Amino acid sequence: MDLNLSRRQFVRNASALSMVPFIPSGLWPQPSGPQRLLIRSDVTIGLVRPDFHGHFAEHLGSCIYGGLWVGKNSPIPNINGYRKQAVEYLRELGVPVLRWPGGCFADDYHWRDGIGPYAQRPKRVNIHWGGYVEDNSFGTHEFIGLCRLLNAEPYLAGNVGSGSPRELRDWIEYCNYPSGSTLSDERAANGSPEPFHIRYWGVGNESWGCGGDMKPEEYASLYRDFAVYCREFGGTKPFLVASGPSGNDLRWSRGFMDGLRGSQPQGLSMHYYTGGRDRATEFTPEHANDQLSIYARVEQAIIQQRSLLDSYRDGEKIGLILDEWGVWDRIPAEDEKRYGKLWQQSTVRSAVAAGLGLNIFNRLADKLYMCNIAQIMNVLQSLLLSDGPTGEHCVRTTTYHAFALFKPHRSQRAVRVETESPSPLGLSASASKGEKQLVLSLVNPRHDADLQVECTIVGSSARSGTAQILHDKDMNACNTFEQPDRVTPQSHPVQVNAAKVQVDLPRMSVATVVLQTG
Ligand code: AHR
Repeated sequence: MDLNLSRRQFVRNASALSMVPFIPSGLWPQPSGPQRLLIRSDVTIGLVRPDFHGHFAEHLGSCIYGGLWVGKNSPIPNINGYRKQAVEYLRELGVPVLRWPGGCFADDYHWRDGIGPYAQRPKRVNIHWGGYVEDNSFGTHEFIGLCRLLNAEPYLAGNVGSGSPRELRDWIEYCNYPSGSTLSDERAANGSPEPFHIRYWGVGNESWGCGGDMKPEEYASLYRDFAVYCREFGGTKPFLVASGPSGNDLRWSRGFMDGLRGSQPQGLSMHYYTGGRDRATEFTPEHANDQLSIYARVEQAIIQQRSLLDSYRDGEKIGLILDEWGVWDRIPAEDEKRYGKLWQQSTVRSAVAAGLGLNIFNRLADKLYMCNIAQIMNVLQSLLLSDGPTGEHCVRTTTYHAFALFKPHRSQRAVRVETESPSPLGLSASASKGEKQLVLSLVNPRHDADLQVECTIVGSSARSGTAQILHDKDMNACNTFEQPDRVTPQSHPVQVNAAKVQVDLPRMSVATVVLQTG
């Protein structure tokens, strides 16, 4: 095996990035010569949990109403009220887990509003997202119905901000107790005799902000009150997710952990958005650099939050959950008016951002439990877009296609990838191995440099390989209702010779190489 490369100063992406000094993103030097990678298939990091590719759906803009849910009487093709095209696209991609009903909305949501006959469900003002009235036609049963259609694990976010321990406890009983209690019998009367067996329960959302504007110690005290009553009903042990930091706010996480007594949550929810200064389809190269270079900080945040949680470990490891992530660009009022609150296009740049995030999750597979992109449809970095609440069109965004490119990693073992000169805007890579294949994902976040990538595999060798790439010369290119398939994955040449793999990576692209090793 040719290990010439080992003489070079290869370093692990994550640890090296932590040492990168701050350089204005416009000044990152142009990469010169081929980019060399070592794929250490002999060094396993951890399982790529399918839940790293999880999703989030909030009552916000046209995510639920007019997006996923059009109602049974809609002229838009639907399956019992769910938008048919959306269901089909999402089934094809595979949705491992789906979080609902918020977001900020969760802390103003009272679950009883969304059960029982439609005509009797109250109409409520959505105070967080524009003050419009919702008819609650999409409630717990409709959400579970959607999860069943998508084969997704449901994840409910409970109301701590304006709710009570009793309300959350009753929701769990309603969902999970098999039969014979008043609440479980009510569920049966509402059409679901079988319990829902819901494991994941969020105990509030962004309790430092829209979920109650608390200090960490105040939230810790409330968390304790709630957690006492969030019990196992009908044999389904709840996995409680506490509201965690905004970005890498270590003070919040520490304050919360210090304020706990006795039992710890099973998960801690961290939110990290990467803000953008331009409208999604009008990014300047400089602003794209600024946004994409934030991913180095996301990686750092995961590492630091993980080690903080580990320092408090008392029994089971607390799962670190990146519960909301993705690009949050400038959203013009006219787009929101036309299509819904926080409706945002997804471009080649957004796909590159998704690729940077998904690569991080592979590289930090031992540190993460679940990651949910915000959001699944019509809100922020969404996978699907429809043309407003009454629009018939539904397109797969570039972000959808980036997720599809990472699908072969699911349930494989992430292995270490070493790069020559890591930098926030340098080549990003991750790899995972299955029984008979090695999967490599590569992202070129540069808008001004094409890259030649030369990989050396250590620990196995490849018989053959295929590659797919998502790319367009214009980083602002996107899939529109007029051109729904403008940017889709294409096959891409790759040279494979046992332990050597070579692939060209044009500027602003995401590629996945699947190598047959068995
Ligand atoms: O995803 C949009 C909002 O962003 C969510 O409601 C909230 O949790 C976060 O601030």
